Amino acid sequence: MARILIQFAHPALEKSRVNRRLIAAVESLDFVTVNDLYEQYPDFDIDVQREQELLLAHEYVVLHHPFYWYSSPAMIKQWEDLVLEHGWAYGRTGNALAGKHMLNAITTGGRQEAYQETGSNRYTIQQLLAPFEQTARLCKMQYLPPFVVHGSLRITDEEIDAAAIRYRDLLTLLATGQATEYASLQAPFLRSCLS
Ligand SMILES: Cc1cc2nc3c(=O)[nH]c(=O)nc-3n(C[C@H](O)[C@H](O)[C@H](O)COP(=O)(O)O)c2cc1C
Repeated sequence: MARILIQFAHPALEKSRVNRRLIAAVESLDFVTVNDLYEQYPDFDIDVQREQELLLAHEYVVLHHPFYWYSSPAMIKQWEDLVLEHGWAYGRTGNALAGKHMLNAITTGGRQEAYQETGSNRYTIQQLLAPFEQTARLCKMQYLPPFVVHGSLRITDEEIDAAAIRYRDLLTLLATGQATEYASLQAPFLRSCLS
């Protein structure tokens, strides 16, 4: 089985309704490592060697976070800035991550209809996640479609439970080498963003 590293970043987990339950649904899977970045590094003092070793030990990297200001909480950016070093993650001799996969798992306050070119947020989630996609590509990784839970401020408990099961099932597909099936299951969501 492939190993999945969840780089989890929620700066106020005690107030979380959705992400706390998504994480609870996957943390006991034996092919998943949950790396809670705000818990590990409350002062943003990231241990670069530990993080690079974690990356090397996994085939899939999931950046899991609530969507903040059309992007991630600051910790994910700090992690990228420090850990994805030139000559290690990218550049002529930077091949440590080559062939691995990356995706974002996010929750948004905004509803799906808002994340369309004709919606109030004017851009699709895929367009807004372009810096992550391009970062993955620069690091010679394959970027997969995101896992997204929309409308997180109004979602019911039953809908959260269904999203958590879907998250667990999608990660299981990845771990069992079914990345193509994962991508095609996510395709209707991506198409609906464009309509
Ligand atoms: C600082 C901040 C910025 C946010 N920015 C966005 C945003 O750009 N787009 C959006 O849809 N929701 C935004 N939200 C709403 C969060 O995405 C939402 O609170 C989160 O997904 C809820 O997940 P949780 O229950 O795990 O905390 C923002 C929330 C905060 C606190």
